[in-house]
Amino acid sequence: MSNEQSVPVTQVLAEASRRRTFAVISHPDAGKSTLTEALALHARAITSAGAVHAKGGRRGVTSDWMELERERGISVTSAALQFGHREHVMNLVDTPGHADFSEDTYRVLSAVDCAIMLIDAAKGLEEQTRKLFSVCRHRGVPVITFINKWDRRGRDALTLLEDIETHLGITPVPVVWPVGVAGNLRGLVEAADTEQFRRYTKVPAGTHAAIEELLTADEAAEQEGEDWTNALEELELVLSSGPGYDQEAFEAGKITPVFFGAALTNIGVKLLLDAVVDLAPAPAARPLANGGHREVAEEFSGVVFKIQANMDPAHRDRIAFVRVCSGVFERGMNVTRAASGRSLTTKYAHTVFGAERTVVETAYPGDVVGLINAAALRVGDTLFTGRKAEFPPLPAFAPEYFAVARPKDISRSKQFRRGVSQLDEEGVVQVLVSDRRGEQAPVMAAVGPMQFDVVLHRMEHEFSSPIHLDRLSYQLARKTNAEGAEALAKARLTDSEVLTRRSDQALLALFADKWHLNAFQRAKPEIYLEPLIATA
Ligand code: G4P
Repeated sequence: MSNEQSVPVTQVLAEASRRRTFAVISHPDAGKSTLTEALALHARAITSAGAVHAKGGRRGVTSDWMELERERGISVTSAALQFGHREHVMNLVDTPGHADFSEDTYRVLSAVDCAIMLIDAAKGLEEQTRKLFSVCRHRGVPVITFINKWDRRGRDALTLLEDIETHLGITPVPVVWPVGVAGNLRGLVEAADTEQFRRYTKVPAGTHAAIEELLTADEAAEQEGEDWTNALEELELVLSSGPGYDQEAFEAGKITPVFFGAALTNIGVKLLLDAVVDLAPAPAARPLANGGHREVAEEFSGVVFKIQANMDPAHRDRIAFVRVCSGVFERGMNVTRAASGRSLTTKYAHTVFGAERTVVETAYPGDVVGLINAAALRVGDTLFTGRKAEFPPLPAFAPEYFAVARPKDISRSKQFRRGVSQLDEEGVVQVLVSDRRGEQAPVMAAVGPMQFDVVLHRMEHEFSSPIHLDRLSYQLARKTNAEGAEALAKARLTDSEVLTRRSDQALLALFADKWHLNAFQRAKPEIYLEPLIATA
C-alpha cells in the first residue's frame, strides 16, 4: 500500500481509528439541538466546524440567503461539529431539521459511519424519523437509538421497542433501561451491569444537568422499591426474548442498541456518547465505483457531500464540504477531481462556520473539511491524490414534487441559466429538461416542497433572476433506458406523462399518479421503467 504523504501510515491508521463520524436523525422537536448541546457539554470542543441549529436565539448559524431559515426558525445548512471525547475525535455531522426534508438531509448520511436515531418518548416513531431511518438502512449506516424526554410523561418502554421492531424491521436491543415510567424517571440501569443503579435528581431550575448518584442493586431495591424491580423484570423480559447485543449484527443493521434518557437534563447522554465511541465503527475502507476498495491508510481521498453557497454575507462564497475517506488531507495540497481528471489546489480549506472559520491544516479519515471557492466541485465528486479513486455516485432520491421554472424577466435569461445550473450542481433540486418544454423552461424536481422555496429565494436574491415556479401535477418518476425513451418519444403521451432528461443524462419518465403509471405500464409493458430510491 503506498502512501507518500508526510504522515506515516501508522499514524493515519491510528488517527482514523479514533475518529467517530455520526449524525443525529430525528423528527423536528424530538430534541436534536438539545441533544447536540448536551453531547458537546461532555466533550472538549476541538473546533466548531458546523452548526447546531438555532431556535429561539440559541447558538446557530448565520447565512444570509437563508432569511428563510430565520423566518421559519429552521436550519437548512449542514456542516460538522468536531469535539473530543475520551481519546477519540467525534465528528457530528448536522442534518437539517425540518419536517419538509430535502435531498440534502439524505446526502449528509453518506458522510457518516453511524447515526443516532432520536425518538420523543411521548410521540414514538414519527414520519421523518422513519424516512431517515430508511435512508440509513439503504446506505448500510448502523443506527443507535436514543429515546428522549423520559422526564416527561410518555409511552411505555416496551411499547416503544415493539414499534421499532414492527415498523422499522430492526431488532431493538436495550443497553440501558429506565427505572421509573416516563414522567417519573428515577434513573437508569445498564443491561451489562444490573448490580449498579444510576439515580438522577433534577435540579429545581429545570434545564440544568441532573445530579447523578451511583447506588448498588441492594440500595436501589430498598430505596426505589417497585420501580427498580419492575425495571429489572422488563429488562430481563426484553433481553431473554431477543438476540442480545452483537457487534456484527449492529454493523449489519440487524439490531439497534437502545438508550433512554433526557437530553434537556443531560440524563443518559454520557452513556450515549460512550456508546458512540465503543460501538460505532471507525472510518473503514470504502467501496470504489469500479470495484475494489480504498483503504483508509492509502493516500488522500474524499467525497463532496454538500455544497453551500453564500454562507457568509461578507464573502459571497461557495463551500464544498468534503468527508475525508482515506489518507491525510493537508491544506494546500493538490488533489485531483475524479470526474474531470483535473487538479485543484486546496489553499482555502477550513472547518467552517459562518463568521467562525478555522483554517484546517490537517484532516484524517472521518473528518469534514470545507473547501472554499472550489467552483469546479459538484455534490458527489471524489477527490484524491495518488492512485485514482472514484466512489459510487450519491443516490438521487425519487422526487415527488415537480415545478416548471421560467424567468420573470426574459431579458435576464443568462442569469437564469447560470442560476439554474448552479443550483443543479449544488444538488438543491434535480433539474430535468423535457422535449415538450425545452431548456428555457426546465422542470425542477424535489423530494420535499421546501426545496422550491430555496430555489425561488436564491434565484431572486443571488442570481438576480426572479422566477415563476409553477407546480406540475406529476407525482412519480421512473428511470428508463434509451429504448424506453425512444418508445416514449414515439408514444402519444397524455398530459399525465412526460419524458425528461436529468443533468446526469438519466432519462426520467414522470407520471401524474400511480394509476396513470399502472395504466401506462399495462398498455406498454415493453417499456422499461425502474423505480428510483424511495424516501418513504
Ligand atoms: P429539535 O432540534 O429536534 O427540533 O428539538 P429541540 O432540541 O429544539 O427541542 C424541542 C423541544 O423539546 C424544546 O422545547 C426542548 O427544550 C424540548 N426538549 C428536548 N429534550 C428534552 C428532554 O429531554 N426533556 C424535555 N422535557 N424536553 C426536552 P421548546 O419549549 O419547544 O423549545 P425551547 O423554547 O425550550 O427552546
